[in-house]
Amino acid sequence: MSENTGPAPMSAAPDDLQAHIALLESKGLLIRIDREINKDTELHPLARWQFQGGLHEDERRAFLFTNVVDSKGKKYDIPVLVGGLAASPEIYAIGLGVPVETIGKVWVHAVADPIEPTVVETAACQEVVLTGDDLTKPDGGLAVLPVPISTPGFDAAPYLTATLCVTKDPENGVQNMGTYRGQLKANDRLGVRMASRLSGAGGYLHWEKYRKLGQKMPVAIVLGCAPAVLFTGPQKLQIDLDEMAVAGGLMGRSVKVVRCKTIDLMVPADAEIVIEGLIDTDRLEPEGPFGESHGYVALEDFNMSMHVTAITMKKKPVFVSIISQVTPSESSVIKKVAYEPMFLEHLKTTLGIRGIKRVVMHEPLTNLRKVIFLQFAKGAPQPEVWRGLQGAATLQAQCGKLVIAVSEDINPENADAIFWSLAYRSDFTHDVLVTPFRSSGHGPKSGRAPLESTLLIDATLKNDLPPLALPAEPYMVEAKKIWEELGLPRLSPQSPWHGYHLGEWTPLWTQYAEDAVHGDWRKSGELTYARREGGMKPETPAHQGTVHE
Ligand SMILES: Cc1cc2nc3c(=O)[nH]c(=O)nc-3n(C[C@H](O)[C@H](O)[C@H](O)COP(=O)(O)O)c2cc1C
Repeated sequence: MSENTGPAPMSAAPDDLQAHIALLESKGLLIRIDREINKDTELHPLARWQFQGGLHEDERRAFLFTNVVDSKGKKYDIPVLVGGLAASPEIYAIGLGVPVETIGKVWVHAVADPIEPTVVETAACQEVVLTGDDLTKPDGGLAVLPVPISTPGFDAAPYLTATLCVTKDPENGVQNMGTYRGQLKANDRLGVRMASRLSGAGGYLHWEKYRKLGQKMPVAIVLGCAPAVLFTGPQKLQIDLDEMAVAGGLMGRSVKVVRCKTIDLMVPADAEIVIEGLIDTDRLEPEGPFGESHGYVALEDFNMSMHVTAITMKKKPVFVSIISQVTPSESSVIKKVAYEPMFLEHLKTTLGIRGIKRVVMHEPLTNLRKVIFLQFAKGAPQPEVWRGLQGAATLQAQCGKLVIAVSEDINPENADAIFWSLAYRSDFTHDVLVTPFRSSGHGPKSGRAPLESTLLIDATLKNDLPPLALPAEPYMVEAKKIWEELGLPRLSPQSPWHGYHLGEWTPLWTQYAEDAVHGDWRKSGELTYARREGGMKPETPAHQGTVHE
C-alpha cells in the first residue's frame, strides 16, 4: 500500500442502487420527473442539457423518470435513472459513501486491499426470472426493459450503457467486470462491443480464449447495483484482479454475490436486473452506429452477438442508464474521478517521482485519455519532471498522447492558465519531446492515422519570476466583500484571482508596497532619490540578482 495514503477512509457506501437513489433524494441531488417522457426521443436529450447548457458541475442532478413510454406508446412500469451514478463528482462520492476529496484514497486502498465477495443462495436480483418463451414472446425479454436511445437521430437502436459485463477467464476462473455498450437486437439478442485495441476490454481477452476452445462465452450483464460495485466497470485495473473483490475494498465490506440461473457466473445479489447469456465466438454481427465517448459516432462494426438465456430482476427494479457521447458527460466523470488517483499513485509510489502533486485528465471534448496535465511542486528536479512525463504517457497504451507538466500554481482545469504557462515558462527547443509509434487508442476508426505520436512538454517554472500582477490576496478578499455588499452580479472566481510571489522579489519592494498601501508613497520616493546614478541606459535593473527577459 502507498505510504501516502494513510488509513482506509470510512465508507458509508449504499448497498444497492435504490438505497443510493434515496440518499441522493435526501440530499437534494435527485430530480423526479413524473411527467410522461419518451425514452426513444426525449429522455437522454433532456438529461443531456445538463452538460450542454452551461451549468456548473455542482448544479448537475440525477434524474429519475417515473413515467416512461416509447415511440409506439408503450408504457413501462420500471423507472429510469440517468445521471444518478456520476453526473457530478458529488453524486459519485455519495455512491462511494465518502466525501469528494477522499475518492482517490478510497480507490488506492481498494486496489491494495481487496475484500473477497461472499456467496449467498437467495438474492433480490432473482425475485423474477424470465426464461424460455418469456424471452421470445412479443413484448417479452429485453422489450420489458425501458432502454433509452442515447443519441436519437444517429443511434441504430436503444442501448444498454450502465452495464457491468461479467465474464470469466476459462483458464484460471477469474472474473472480469467491464462497462461495455449493448445494442438491443431482438427480444432475446444483444450486440455487445468489447474493445479489441491495446488496453481495451478485459472481456475481449476472455472471448479470445473461448474462441480458441471452440466454446461460446458466458456473460452476465448487470444493470444497476451498489454504485461502488458498478464503479469498477469503467476502471482500468490489472488483468486477473477480481473486480468484485476491489468493489469490496471500495465499500469496506464484502459484496454479496449469487450464481446466475443459467450460466456459471457470480453477480451482485442486490442488483436490479441481470441479463444472462452466451456470446458466439464463431461469428460476429454488425453493431452500431452509436454515439461514442470519444465524441464521434461509432459507425457499424462487426461485434459480438449475445443470445439471452435469462433475465432476472427484483420485483420492483430501477433501470439505470449513463449519459456518454461528447464529454463532459456522466461517462467521463465516472472515469475521471477514478483514473486520476490511479495515475497519481503510479507516479508517486510505483515510480517514486519527486515533486509530483496532481494528475488532471482533460475532460471537455477530448475525453480524458488524450491530454494529461501533471502538477509539480516548485523546484522539482527537471529529470524528475521528465520521468513523470514519460510515466504518465506509458501507464496505459490509450492514455497520454499529450502530457504537459506545470507548476503548482497553475490550475490544470483552466486551459487559459495552461497556455499562460506554455507562453512564459517553456522553451520549445529544450522543453518539448515528440516520440513516435503511439497506438491511436479510443477514437473514430476512420479519418485518423493508425499510429500516432506522443508530445511531452515541460512547462514548469524553471527559474524565479516576478510576482503575478494582480492585487495581493487580502485586498481581493476585502474587495469581494464590498462587491457582494453592493449587490453586483454573482462572481465565480477563476484561478488565478490574486497576485502571488514566484520567487523574484526583495524585502525593499515589500517595504515600498507596504508604505504605498498605508498612503506613505513619498517614503519610497525619498529612498530612490538617494539612489540616483548616472551613465546608465533606461531599464537597467535596479536590484541585485537574476533578471530574465
Ligand atoms: C458508459 C461507458 C461505456 C463504455 N462502453 C464501452 C464499450 O462499449 N466497450 C469497451 O470496450 N469499453 C467501454 N467502456 C470503457 C470500459 O468500461 C473501460 O475501458 C474499462 O476499463 C473496461 O473494463 P475492463 O478493463 O475490465 O475490461 C465504457 C465506459 C463507460 C463509462
